[in-house]
Amino acid sequence: MAFQKPESSQSIYEPEFVEKLFNEMSLTYERMNTITSFGFSNRWRRQCVFELAIQPGQVVVDLMTGMGETWDYICQRIGPDGMLIGVDFSAGMLQYADQKRQRKRFAQHTIHLYKQNVLAGTLPDQSADHVIVSFGLKTFNSDQINQLAQEINRILKPGGQFSCIEVSVPRPTLLRALYIFYLRRVIPVLGAVFLGNPETYRMLGIYCTEFKNTQQAQQLFQKAGLSCRTTRYFFGCASGIVGKKSI
Ligand SMILES: C[S@@+](CC[C@H](N)C(=O)[O-])C[C@H]1O[C@@H](n2cnc3c(N)ncnc32)[C@H](O)[C@@H]1O
Repeated sequence: MAFQKPESSQSIYEPEFVEKLFNEMSLTYERMNTITSFGFSNRWRRQCVFELAIQPGQVVVDLMTGMGETWDYICQRIGPDGMLIGVDFSAGMLQYADQKRQRKRFAQHTIHLYKQNVLAGTLPDQSADHVIVSFGLKTFNSDQINQLAQEINRILKPGGQFSCIEVSVPRPTLLRALYIFYLRRVIPVLGAVFLGNPETYRMLGIYCTEFKNTQQAQQLFQKAGLSCRTTRYFFGCASGIVGKKSI
């Protein structure tokens, strides 16, 4: 059945809705993502990973791993003795992640995939040296971001670091107007061309404009006991939160 926009504004944050959205998009996500961000998305992922002092042999958890878009950057750092754990609830996205895991360039790496809601995660306490969240914040409301921050705090080892990045609405007025026009008008058309359903990609624009940037999320992360700061990429077209758990 074709994807339908929900009636209420809060139901866009229901896990079942988000899971369905990404299952629907999984066929085209990687291509659309590269085209619609003019190649910036990969650069931002690399910057997000490189905020962390990842050492060979460490354990990195990639929450909302999607199809493993950050894995190249993580695996370069952890090397063959490290471990990468990817978590996502979309069977569609994980199917591609699993295919990627079997590619030759990941043959020497230990990559585990878990299909679960990150807000009801089962990873052991204090098991991760680093946690990454790449483009996974926008589909959460404030309560859920609060839960996510607690989950990151739970799974990080003392002194462990995390880095999150999200597409954001830039502050400069002209850039912001162009950006919102692009999200609301252009991306749905590209979605219609590639996917045959503009509604699916229009939803991403709605999530991004509602999310705005990582400023509010950073405060919620601090409330959860994590010391952190916000980061900005390319005039604020993406923003991040980088920090660590106390020792
Ligand atoms: C925009 S994609 C980002 C994928 C990838 N990290 C990247 O850099 O492109 C967001 C991913 O988060 C997943 N996701 C969203 N909410 C989730 C949740 N509560 N639990 C697990 N996965 C979730 C979606 O299934 C989707 O694969």
